[in-house]
Amino acid sequence: MTHSTATNPIIITIDGPSGAGKGTLAYRLAEHFGFELLDSGALYRIVGLLAHKQDLLTDDIDEDKLAKLTTSLRLSFLPNTTNRTVEILVDGKALTDDIRTETVGSFASQVAVFVKVRTALFDLQRNIATGKKGLVADGRDMGTVIFPDAHAKIFLTASAKARADRRVLQLKQAGKVADYDKILADIIARDERDEKRCVAPSRPAHDALVIDSSDKSVDEVFEEILDFINQKSPIPT
Ligand code: DC
Repeated sequence: MTHSTATNPIIITIDGPSGAGKGTLAYRLAEHFGFELLDSGALYRIVGLLAHKQDLLTDDIDEDKLAKLTTSLRLSFLPNTTNRTVEILVDGKALTDDIRTETVGSFASQVAVFVKVRTALFDLQRNIATGKKGLVADGRDMGTVIFPDAHAKIFLTASAKARADRRVLQLKQAGKVADYDKILADIIARDERDEKRCVAPSRPAHDALVIDSSDKSVDEVFEEILDFINQKSPIPT
């Protein structure tokens, strides 16, 4: 059985494309085990948004300028113990911009192809687990690059159509306008960029449990993940 110590936290990774349900499942697992959360996509979204604001996302992106921007940002985490979210601060302050839009997702995906950007974010992600009981980390390369020795690795996917349907529903429920065709096209374009990039492409780790959530409820996926973890070695709650 795996026991966490101050230097050996238990890590659960959830990788996969956007809209497959990673965030929801990561939250449920963190709540269940009393672990912290790392939403690594938010880091890339922040870098992407700031790069856009500084006009760095041109046709011929300058990797060194992006790397300089990334290393100059003093990014830190502010855990919110009431709802288990972790807010990311830039230079000690929360960003007021909405980083959850598809446009910012696309900025994030553009900056994420660069090895110097990824390297600049590496230690920050690794160190968030230090001294913790456990961590649920979601993203694209959590199981393959950032936490290769994680206790349990999940790759959560779903068809592009199912993910577009979910996004449209979310937007409508929030009272926002949703263009299904554009959303589907954006999802496909972003998947392609994330899966085909040379560095840390989005793909399942060799020892990951791959789950297709297209026709499954959150509860079903959650139970499947718990079974997988328990088969490996149960985590005390
Ligand atoms: O998970 P998300 O949609 O918030 O991620 C936004 C983009 O950031 C995603 O399209 C690719 C990039 N990303 C990454 O390259 N590696 C991660 N670990 C997380 C996100």
